[in-house]
Amino acid sequence: MKQKSVIKADNSWVEKSIREFPGSPSERIGSGWMLITAGTESAGDWNTMTASWGGLGVLWGRDVAFMFIRPSRHTFGFANDNPLFTLSFFDKGYRDALSLCGEKSGRDIDKAAEAGLNPIVFDHSIAGGKAAGAVGFKEASEIIVCRKLYTHDFDPAAFLDPVLIEKSYGGTDYHRMYIGEIVSLLTKK
Ligand SMILES: Cc1cc2nc3c(=O)[nH]c(=O)nc-3n(C[C@H](O)[C@H](O)[C@H](O)COP(=O)(O)O)c2cc1C
Repeated sequence: MKQKSVIKADNSWVEKSIREFPGSPSERIGSGWMLITAGTESAGDWNTMTASWGGLGVLWGRDVAFMFIRPSRHTFGFANDNPLFTLSFFDKGYRDALSLCGEKSGRDIDKAAEAGLNPIVFDHSIAGGKAAGAVGFKEASEIIVCRKLYTHDFDPAAFLDPVLIEKSYGGTDYHRMYIGEIVSLLTKK
């Protein structure tokens, strides 16, 4: 299903260093959850999904974010077809919205409309144009914009603890890992 039209991000967004990202990534992602969003309206469409696995770190001398998407997710195709993705973080009051985006598929519903979220797109007037074209949400408290650097499909033969396979996979739908260079952390002024 076509997702809700995006509106231009207003000038309430300010760029910060990723080193000022509030809280520990384990807590913010693992407990607080995030929305992974990829695609743009101008490229056809976009989609978002909830994730609680991922991280922030340093690789190849660059600040990076990493995330994991199963091929069965509608978001998978958007993450593969577009150079940018965003990670949006929310206050606790948006838990129901994040639950919906983690239970329903953008194949079937207009997620943002049903979750009460407003998709925004950054243009060249924000963050020196680094985030241009990336889609996030007006209601987010922080949005991390990433440029894909590397992807890799999990290989069942490479798992060293068989419990991981038993608990997380039924023989298929192994995650694809995405490592993205953090090009911008946007927060509210
Ligand atoms: C708390 C939570 C965390 C999730 N984390 C992930 C994740 O890290 N990777 C993933 O592929 N799916 C994850 N999911 C599942 C997707 O969010 C879910 O399947 C979603 O409906 C996919 O939407 P889509 O088909 O529109 O892409 C999570 C779901 C929830 C509720």
